[in-house]
Amino acid sequence: MTEIQAGAGVAGEATSDQVPAIELDEVVKEYVSHGEVVPAVKGVSMTIGEGEFFSLLGPSGCGKTTSMRMIAGFEEPTRGVVRLHGQDVTNVPPNKRDVNMVFQSYALFPHMNVWDNVAFGLKRKKVPDGEIRRRVGEILEIVDLVGREKRRPREMSGGQQQRVALARALVNRPRALLLDEPLGALDLKLRQHMQIELKRIQREVGITFVYVTHDQSEALTMSDRIAVMNDGLVEQLAGPREIYERPATKFVAGFIGTSNLLSGVVRAVNGSSAVLALGPDDRVVVPIRETVAEDDTVELTVRPEKITISTERPEGDLSMVEGTVSEVVYLGTSNSYAVALAGGAEITVFQQNAHDSTTTAERGDTVWLSWQPQHSYALQ
Ligand SMILES: Nc1ncnc2c1ncn2[C@@H]1O[C@H](COP(=O)(O)OP(=O)(O)OP(=O)(O)O)[C@@H](O)[C@H]1O
Ligand SMILES: [Mg+2]
Repeated sequence: MTEIQAGAGVAGEATSDQVPAIELDEVVKEYVSHGEVVPAVKGVSMTIGEGEFFSLLGPSGCGKTTSMRMIAGFEEPTRGVVRLHGQDVTNVPPNKRDVNMVFQSYALFPHMNVWDNVAFGLKRKKVPDGEIRRRVGEILEIVDLVGREKRRPREMSGGQQQRVALARALVNRPRALLLDEPLGALDLKLRQHMQIELKRIQREVGITFVYVTHDQSEALTMSDRIAVMNDGLVEQLAGPREIYERPATKFVAGFIGTSNLLSGVVRAVNGSSAVLALGPDDRVVVPIRETVAEDDTVELTVRPEKITISTERPEGDLSMVEGTVSEVVYLGTSNSYAVALAGGAEITVFQQNAHDSTTTAERGDTVWLSWQPQHSYALQ
């Protein structure tokens, strides 16, 4: 199994003295639907650190909710082990696990006001009145709903209702909170506001958050680490920067942001980098793993903002390819160029409109694209 340790808030760094909050060990989930086996999760291992903001990111149907439901205990794995704080909970029911889940449809009680919605769980557990008052008051302060205790859910905005749902989960003081697309129902502006709020709340209460989203920018801005899932498997597990700058697979490169994919045959291997054959005057050098040999075909990715566009062939130790501008889009603070290479590939370039020395290439111009070799990555 691949063991990935996490320290609170530290991307990819190991803190071995701490018991992880959540562990999935080679977890498989197969549903049986109308006599047919549906493999929803195909063998996922991950270790989530105490206090970490951890996201599961991936397209619809890739197994995010299923993974989350196995952590919460609503679904039993077909194979594999789930551990919470070091203890095997694979067969422990949800109400005996120290985690709470917030669903996309937050299911507040419509006939109860904010206070009663939040206090509901504590009342049911027969927590003494004084303590309920103190804890509900405290949580409403954290989610910034003081003064709205008497409101009913329908008298509040989507973001406020979302915060009530959050308070209702947090008031139980779970050691981990699982949030399944909690902002899905909100419009973009409110969503962005709530992203900041959620981050603040997580910092204040200091508990582990596992966050499910299919929105890559949301995962990049909020998470300490991200597991990018595809078709029931984790394709990459790393911090946001690493995922963005060094996508490990073609899928991750394509799913996160805009990425350029190029492929070429290896002409020479020099230690940890390879020289690729593309066009006759092109020069493309890319960092590689040991397994790459001469005559292999390698796919590489380079982000649009790492590429410089120029009308002359650049000097120096850069990777460079020649192409023809097929499209220029003015985006306000930047220009976006589409450049067609002789081999048929199309490359997107973002160039800041920061200073007037910026090259202004036009449709039909022959240009050179260049980048630092270390800003490109060979894909698996
Ligand atoms: N109860 C079920 N019975 C049969 N198949 C199921 C069941 N629940 C989920 N699946 C299937 O398992 C796969 C993973 O579903 P899951 O709900 O985990 O995806 P997801 O990543 O959360 O997607 P979304 O972003 O659309 O919510 C899908 O192919 C889905 O159709
Ligand atoms: Mg889902």
